[in-house]
Parts: sequence; structure tokens; C-alpha cells
Amino acid sequence: MRLIIADGYAEMCARGAEIFTDVLKKKPNAVLGLATGSTVIGVYDKLAETFESGAVSFGEARTVNLDEYVGASPDDPISYAYYMAEKLFDRTDIDKKNTHIPDGMAENLAAECARYDALLDALPRDVQLLGIGSDGHIGFNEPGSPFDGRTHVAALAASTVKDNSRLFGSIAEVPRRAVTMGISDILKAKRIVILACGANKAKAVYDMISGEISESCPASALRLHADVTALVDREAAGRLK
Ligand code: GLP
Repeated sequence: MRLIIADGYAEMCARGAEIFTDVLKKKPNAVLGLATGSTVIGVYDKLAETFESGAVSFGEARTVNLDEYVGASPDDPISYAYYMAEKLFDRTDIDKKNTHIPDGMAENLAAECARYDALLDALPRDVQLLGIGSDGHIGFNEPGSPFDGRTHVAALAASTVKDNSRLFGSIAEVPRRAVTMGISDILKAKRIVILACGANKAKAVYDMISGEISESCPASALRLHADVTALVDREAAGRLK
């Protein structure tokens, strides 16, 4: 794992966006694995800016997102589909039919997981963007998730519900379940870029980089991958030796 300690949030996001821009310039129809959460918003801002400047096009790109809340419809601002439209898709020339997010409204969630697995098999990711939960989760693969897992319905850890409640009116409004890509499919991306900022991520970053490779820290699975770049700010790197 390559560790880059960035000088602040803007630099961290600019470096992350640069990796995606380079991939797209070399391969305009690349498959981009995308993530949600507050940390990666700056990456999307930078990508939208780069698109506006004319330096890159998303016209042929395909995207696959990590996860979606169960019960969240794309027109609901709490959904990750809404987030993606607002933060990236509607700001670029991306063709919406080439964007994929699990369907949190599916009546048959088992069938939806199987559909998503087939989609992942058909669209191998050239690069995967990740954030990290304060408990070390990636996507919604919470501690204890098997490294060979595929798309599944995950129950959010109590700490994740609490972390994510800042984006909702109250803790009661936070969905308790999500459909998430499994760790095995995250690891299938050719290249992985994981971002972390802030002191509340310092323990997760330490466990990911210096802890045991174990299911107790899902992000530690990334050490089994040959091409991972971890972009962190000074606060998130605070516990590293
Ligand atoms: C959410 C998402 C993750 C994300 C994480 C961190 O639960 N499912 O994909 O990486 O939380 O979010 P944030 O960047 O807002 O701290």
C-alpha cells in the first residue's frame, strides 16, 4: 500500500481526482468504482471542475457504486443515487445509463444482490474509490464481514448509524440496512484509492495500515491488493508511527 499524507483536504482530493482523470485520459471508457460519504465530495468537485475545463470527458465512462441504503429511492435526498447525481453525474457529460448503483427499493433484495454481482462480473473496475468508516468499514462491509464476500444486505454497525446520523434530521431516520458490494469485488479492481481525513479516522487508518490483516478491520483487506493508494490528511495519519 502506498501511503500519501496530504497537506490538507484540498490537496488530498486533488490527488485522488488526478488518479481518476489519468485513468480516463488513457481509457475513456474505463469502469470507475465510486463511493459516497463526505470525504470524497472534494474528489467529485475536482472531477467536475476538470470536466468543465475541457480537460476530461466522462462521455464513455461506466461507473459502479459501492452501496445504497435499503428503502432509499433515487429521488430521496438521503439516497446515494441522489448524492451521485448531485455531486458528479449531473455536473458532467456522463451517460446516466452507464451508471450503476444498487437498487435499495428492490422488493426482492436477494435477487438485487445477484443482479449486482452479475453486473460486477461484466464490468471489472479499472479503479475503485473508497472512503473508510471510523470502524474500518469499506462500502458497508462492517467489521466481521468476510474478505471473500460478495454483494449482500448489510446491517449498519451502531457506530456507523451514529456517524452517519449527522447527515439526517435525527438518528431514528438513519436507515439500518444497506445493499453493499462485498470485499472480494472491491479487491477485484485493478487499482484502489482510499481517502481518509480527520482525527476520527485515525484509529481506522492505523488498523488498516499497521494492524492485523483481519475481518475486525475490513479495510485491512486492502493490504492483500497490489495497487492501493491511501490518501490521508495529517489528522487521519495521527496514530501512524
Ligand atoms: C459511509 C459509506 C462508506 C464511506 C463511509 C465514510 O457509511 N457507506 O462508503 O466510506 O461511510 O463516510 P465519510 O466520508 O462521510 O466519513
